[in-house]
Amino acid sequence: MRDFLEHLPKAELHLHIEGSLEPELMFALAERNRIQLPYASVEQARAAYDFSDLQSFLDLYYRGMSVLRTAEDFHDLAMDYFRRASGEGVVHVEMHFDPQAHLSRGIPLPVVMEGLSLARRAAERELGLSSALIMAFLRDRPAEEAMQVLERAAPYWEMLDAVGLDSAERGNPPAKFVEVFERARALGIPRVAHAGEEGPPEYIREALDRLDVCRIDHGVRCLEDPALVARLRDEGIVLTVCPLSNVRLKVVERIEDHPLPRLLEAGLRLTINSDDPAYFGGGVLDNYLACHQAFGWSREVFIELAGTAIEAAFLGNERRLALH
Ligand code: ADE
Ligand code: ZN
Repeated sequence: MRDFLEHLPKAELHLHIEGSLEPELMFALAERNRIQLPYASVEQARAAYDFSDLQSFLDLYYRGMSVLRTAEDFHDLAMDYFRRASGEGVVHVEMHFDPQAHLSRGIPLPVVMEGLSLARRAAERELGLSSALIMAFLRDRPAEEAMQVLERAAPYWEMLDAVGLDSAERGNPPAKFVEVFERARALGIPRVAHAGEEGPPEYIREALDRLDVCRIDHGVRCLEDPALVARLRDEGIVLTVCPLSNVRLKVVERIEDHPLPRLLEAGLRLTINSDDPAYFGGGVLDNYLACHQAFGWSREVFIELAGTAIEAAFLGNERRLALH
């Protein structure tokens, strides 16, 4: 099965590129930029990745990305991930990035965009890997700040495949960002949002009704609301589910308890993704393998999940046909 899953062409629709920063690269960049890390070694960093919830992870995630300073750093970060993903049979990656987490440290948007763009072109050329870019707003920051970032990104609007919404979910409902998402819609930029990871099912409804998103990131808590499940099924809304992330952030206790089989049973369109692979113990292939081990899914199920990801990706028709 490992061989089959490795060779199955997979698209990753839910990845935070800053969450792909492996401790080895974190140390290399810290040295290059003369930054002191709070860890004595790579092993100590990995040992610190023991989370009790989303916030406890976000604290280390924002601290870890402090080593990213130059366009070259962002290039190296993305290329490091693209190479690993390509090695496990990933043919297309849609990456969230968090401009506010860099702007607040004095790293200008053009630095981030230049580094990521160079890496995307190199991945296409060297690995045959396509990618899409999702500019995420931090939901625990003011909506006005998100609007400023969207306006500041004017030179890059053409390069954005979507805008997204991430960071601490509880107490930060999608409705807070209605104006920002309306502006994105007016600009013709598609929209996605994290909802129903730690937050309640109402946040999923709100993301659909108020933000007009085309995909829900996570969405696993929809099962608490049967009418919502029926709506997601009827409207064919795709959920980008991240099983290993949900275990590591204690959304579920064990992978065996994960709602994925019930979501599948309910007829929802699902995809399997890694979220923050450097922090959660594995990439897309590891997430597929964990599902195989926990749920005993057949090849047909994985073919369907991988096919859904290619259908739901921000891809041009030509590339989509080539991948199908
Ligand atoms: N930012 C990076 N990973 C995230 C996650 N799993 N949920 C919300 N925000 C995030
Ligand atoms: Zn995420």
